[in-house]
Amino acid sequence: MRIRYSGGTYEARFWDNASFIERLVEVPGALFVVDAEVARLYGESALACLPAARAFQFRAEESRKDFSGVEQILDWLIASGMRKGGTLVSVGGGIVQDVTGFVAHVLYRGVRWVYVPTTLLAQSDSCIGSKTSLNYKGFKNLLGTFRPPAEVHISSAFLGTLQDKEFFSGAGEIVKLALIGGASATDAFRAELGGLRRREPAATLKTLQAALEIKKGYIERDEFDRGPRNLLNFGHCFGHALESSSDFAIPHGQAVTIGILFANLVAVERGLLDRAAADRLAEELLLPLLTLRPKPEHLLGDRILEGMRRDKKRSGRGLALVMMGDGHKMSKVDDLTDEEALRALARLQTLLSSETAGTRTR
Ligand SMILES: NC(=O)c1ccc[n+]([C@@H]2O[C@H](COP(=O)([O-])OP(=O)(O)OC[C@H]3O[C@@H](n4cnc5c(N)ncnc54)[C@H](O)[C@@H]3O)[C@@H](O)[C@H]2O)c1
Ligand SMILES: [Zn+2]
Repeated sequence: MRIRYSGGTYEARFWDNASFIERLVEVPGALFVVDAEVARLYGESALACLPAARAFQFRAEESRKDFSGVEQILDWLIASGMRKGGTLVSVGGGIVQDVTGFVAHVLYRGVRWVYVPTTLLAQSDSCIGSKTSLNYKGFKNLLGTFRPPAEVHISSAFLGTLQDKEFFSGAGEIVKLALIGGASATDAFRAELGGLRRREPAATLKTLQAALEIKKGYIERDEFDRGPRNLLNFGHCFGHALESSSDFAIPHGQAVTIGILFANLVAVERGLLDRAAADRLAEELLLPLLTLRPKPEHLLGDRILEGMRRDKKRSGRGLALVMMGDGHKMSKVDDLTDEEALRALARLQTLLSSETAGTRTR
């Protein structure tokens, strides 16, 4: 898949093995930053060909996705002889992506950057789209740049070791993109859902490839996130609020899945989405992807409303919400009232306590 951006194009390649790592190791002067956990898990398999002196192991913790992490990586790269013409290869999830993408952008005003995403979330969503983010003084993703890697290598070889919690977080972004993609993208997703839930590599690769094709359409039209790309925030207005009300016990993509259920409930109330269609989506596609259920205290009205008010993309007087209507027509409103949100929240609580939720079988 080739993606256009203002600086040219970059290629995302899909692999069912890890043979490409050997080719990356052969790139003259290439230095690697590897998620320490990935280095531990794959040091004797996929990453065995990587000489220790050319790899820096970075512990992927949100608290290190800041200038301290940037400084550590810069120090190592400079001490290891990184040149302006050199290549930085990062191997890891979204944390490694964000911090190394920033480094690759600022070191010598830009070195060549190759990214190997190893979480399903990074593979299905963040690896394309050019965003890099750092946390600053306790504020998440406050700083950042727009800059894509020169190459992205997406391989199912890394997915077997992900915890269920991480895997199904990625699945949330995949179902989001399938719904945004329209009826046929959703049907194609439905056909692979069983395989995805069983974590089969072929089904997983197929669904995430389709997801990235849909994301590509949006980022090529709106590279700098000024309009249409906002619609990719489907499920996120509520999802972000739930992540913080649960103190991040609900992982990002699972919160997004629940956020989609919430948005659909509002859309039904507003007459945008047929009730039976929303019920079917909940039952067939969304609830089956939830491995965790929020606790009642994660869904308290006050905390959710407070979180939704803090949405950094909110511009109007009311709350912001991206919704899907009939025919998968996407729209964003900024006039959601507290009352509407609380009504949808009450319905959501009922929906989540139904039998289907949380009964995923492998
Ligand atoms: N730049 C963007 O566009 C963008 C988009 C979405 C999210 N993000 C950021 O990404 C971060 C979250 O990223 P993430 O969900 O990919 O997770 P992560 O990078 O936090 O990794 C999650 C956990 O999985 C481990 N891990 C990584 N690969 C593994 C593997 N193959 N097997 C076993 N364990 C593995 C990590 O060590 C870590 O413990 C957040 O900081 C978020 O803000 C960025
Ligand atoms: Zn997301």
